[in-house]
Amino acid sequence: MTEGIISAAYIIAALLFIMSLAGLSKQETAEAGNWYGIIGMSIALIATIANPAVTGVPLIVVCMVIGAVIGLRLAKKVEMTEMPELVAILHSFVGLAAVFVGYNSSLDHSSLIFGAAKTIHNVEVFLGVFIGAVTFTGSVVAFAKLRGIINTSALMLPHRHKLNLIACLVSAYLMVNFVNTGGDLLPLIVMTIIAFAFGWHLVASIGGADMPVVVSMLNSYSGWAAASAGFMLGNDLLIVTGALVGSSGAILSYIMCKAMNRSFISVIAGGFGTDVQVSSDVDYGEHQEISAESTAELLKDAKSVIITPGYGMAVAQAQYPVYELTQELQKRGVEVRFAIHPVAGRLPGHMNVLLAEAKVPYDVVLGMEEINDDFPETDVVLVIGANDTVNPAAAEDPTSPIAGMPVCEVWNAKQVVVFKRSMSTGYAGVQNPLFFKENTVMLFGDAKDSVDKINKAL
Ligand code: TAP
Repeated sequence: MTEGIISAAYIIAALLFIMSLAGLSKQETAEAGNWYGIIGMSIALIATIANPAVTGVPLIVVCMVIGAVIGLRLAKKVEMTEMPELVAILHSFVGLAAVFVGYNSSLDHSSLIFGAAKTIHNVEVFLGVFIGAVTFTGSVVAFAKLRGIINTSALMLPHRHKLNLIACLVSAYLMVNFVNTGGDLLPLIVMTIIAFAFGWHLVASIGGADMPVVVSMLNSYSGWAAASAGFMLGNDLLIVTGALVGSSGAILSYIMCKAMNRSFISVIAGGFGTDVQVSSDVDYGEHQEISAESTAELLKDAKSVIITPGYGMAVAQAQYPVYELTQELQKRGVEVRFAIHPVAGRLPGHMNVLLAEAKVPYDVVLGMEEINDDFPETDVVLVIGANDTVNPAAAEDPTSPIAGMPVCEVWNAKQVVVFKRSMSTGYAGVQNPLFFKENTVMLFGDAKDSVDKINKAL
């Protein structure tokens, strides 16, 4: 392939990536968006390999086949609820790749460059390795937290913000040293070790409920790591793609922070300003229980019902019987709608994907902000496997670790039924005063079993 054709292929691939992102922003066009991405990436890979400057093509193809087989197997096996973990570990690969590209680019004496070009190249190498190393260990910690391998609560080292600041300042000093010495390896190696520790500490100090933002933030970092690798390799498409991923990840992180009323800076600076401690020994009183049959009776008498799903619905795979329940109630003339919290479940849009899978029509699935004012006029709210996202402490208790996070205000409805298996806490590890309110009853058991029983009773 000539250089002109390769450039044209890169432009087409970049356009397809932009169309892919645009497509993925709406449920109706998400499938097309996926296809644009697949086609764009295929064009990019073919154009890259077909470049006459690329040597060792058979070896690259062997590596790609091995990678593709592992990727396909993983993607087929992964549960929807494990998706953020998978995404986190994939980000770590991008970070590590940027570190390798940086070292390779620094050691590669074949590119004989001098003067200002050399300085620019060394800055690129240094920043690329720094961002890559932070992304790598940060993503590994995010993976371990999401998988439950390490404690999900925030690591609170004494003087943690000062430690972060020192790591940044020392790295900046090392960069000057690296550039002045014309690419001496020692400052690069010392910085890499510091960046590994910095990435680890940055994510370890972020607490449970902020993890969704961390995953999308690491997504953004991995994009910048890829873009910096693009600069080092002189590959325009990698720069464009990295910038797309970097900026879209940053925008998503910002939107999620707004949805959770968290300060963006505080989250990306490793939980800066989140020094509130959990007070776990508050006595909320007694809770009341209900059976599936009595819940069915409640629903028969209701005129309006709102279903608020959460992570538990995903675990139980209850979306299918939930849809049957919706149809049955609608047949009886009951108005049924869904209230979706922006971070319900374990990945952005998790609930929307599950409900779409079960063929629930989009028009009854509403975002939290659209429906929050309607709870007071609602007869029955079914909280199916949600916990943190319906926790009134977020609105009422300023000492709560989730204070200030907007939540679905289900407690304003006339009657609330909470579907879960026990009184245990949700993802953020905080007790939920909703369960003890007078208008709330607990329906214990697996959410799918409970909804099946209600359907039978109806
Ligand atoms: P959570 O607060 O995680 O609570 C889920 C509840 O579901 C648990 O209390 C659990 O109680 C119940 N449950 C689990 N399996 C169940 C089953 N088979 N049947 C019935 N209930 C079951 O849920 P949420 O309200 O969706 O909140 C999401 C949380 O995850 C937030 O803190 C959010 O910040 C965090 N997070 C979100 C994301 C994104 S992007 N959405 C990513 C990572 C983390 P039992 O054990 O008693 O059954």
